[in-house]
Amino acid sequence: MSQKIQAVRGMNDVLPSDAPAWQRLHAVAAEVFAAYGYAEIRLPVVERSELFKRAVGEVTDVVEKEMYSFEDRGGERLSLRPELTAGVVRAGIEHGLFFNRQQRLWCSGPVFRYERPQAGRYRQFHQLDVEAFGIATPDLDVEIIALAEALFRRLGVGGFRLQLNSLGTPAVRAAYRAKLVDYLRRFESSLDEDSRRRLSTNPLRVLDSKVPATRAILEGAPQLPDHLDAPSRAHFEAVQRGLSDLGIAYALNPRLVRGLDYYTHTVFEWTSTALGAQDAVCAGGRYDGLVEQLGGPPTPGIGFAIGVERLVLLMRAQEVPLPEAGPQVYFCRFGERADPAAAQLAETLRRRLPGLRLLLNAGGGALKTQLRRADASGARYALILGDDEAAAGRVQVKSLRGEGEPRSVAVSELPAQLAELLELPLLS
Ligand code: HAM
Repeated sequence: MSQKIQAVRGMNDVLPSDAPAWQRLHAVAAEVFAAYGYAEIRLPVVERSELFKRAVGEVTDVVEKEMYSFEDRGGERLSLRPELTAGVVRAGIEHGLFFNRQQRLWCSGPVFRYERPQAGRYRQFHQLDVEAFGIATPDLDVEIIALAEALFRRLGVGGFRLQLNSLGTPAVRAAYRAKLVDYLRRFESSLDEDSRRRLSTNPLRVLDSKVPATRAILEGAPQLPDHLDAPSRAHFEAVQRGLSDLGIAYALNPRLVRGLDYYTHTVFEWTSTALGAQDAVCAGGRYDGLVEQLGGPPTPGIGFAIGVERLVLLMRAQEVPLPEAGPQVYFCRFGERADPAAAQLAETLRRRLPGLRLLLNAGGGALKTQLRRADASGARYALILGDDEAAAGRVQVKSLRGEGEPRSVAVSELPAQLAELLELPLLS
């Protein structure tokens, strides 16, 4: 045997046993997004590296340390997307979606970050991403947050904490950054190494530090919300009022700064204690300057992304009911006459019973073998067609879950009988 090739570290297969949870999440998400008037956009996985440098920020961990970047054969610098917002904005500008128009969009798919893999943190993961453009007022912030909340509710997952903060305008942030640096410099020698480095590259990120000594220093640090200008404060207060009006609970977290540079005003994050260290399941915020910064018309924007793997973990932990996925019926067939007759009958049944999941035996086998496969498939019923039954125009219907004896049913009656047994609609 040749040596086995394994998947790339931090990149996971979604096996058939996991697929129903993914399908359920995507189906509910598509429904909820449509219910709020959001349209889907699909984007390439690869973009020019420059896009992420300019959008996410050159001194962020994501761009500096985590991007999968390479030169293609034509010498272009390209990257696997580390997030979806930059691509949505790029596409919106490229196709003129932002000219004098509001846009409500969503997209989904794999994103890539070269992080240290651990439970809930991967190098390829998936996001469900929602973005809205062209509306600067706080009612949109409330809508976006309510939309994520509605998705969680419709899925039946709970126990989250919604954390909220405001970063104000870029000018507010710059003024606050200077104050924060002044304060932290006084304790520079006691800061952890990472925070010391960030002090000169991206000081707001020090607020994120999990190192106890640094956190102790941060206790006395100036707080961003105390430095908001009047319009930013009014915006933030209106968002909070709007959330309260809708009965959406939140906690203010003055240290919530986010790891991407494009944010302004409202930022938010849903966390769950059930997720361990990687506790954020959904995060986002406003980015009013980003479209213009990437060469588009001045256009405010706001959005969020859900970490699909993390939400699926919670769906499983909270035993969210999932649609049945395996076959309901296994069709056993044996004999020269029965084989093609069964194939035709299987087609008829699938056409006339929408929603029917029927597995037709392939690869031959004695009745006993086929019934063993039927049992292993998880199906509720086996259909059995041999040459004798085929000649008589009948099929045997056998319950695999101990509901009575096998019955012989006329082929003409079979669709109606199955529809009744499986509670499926019957087409003529
Ligand atoms: P983000 O906070 O970098 O934001 O990622 C959003 C979510 O993706 C996180 O809350 C988490 O659930 C999931 N996530 C992040 N990194 C990993 C990882 N290594 N493994 C598994 N899951 C992960 C953004 O990406 C922004 N683009 C969100 C946004 C949209 N802001 C405005 N619009």
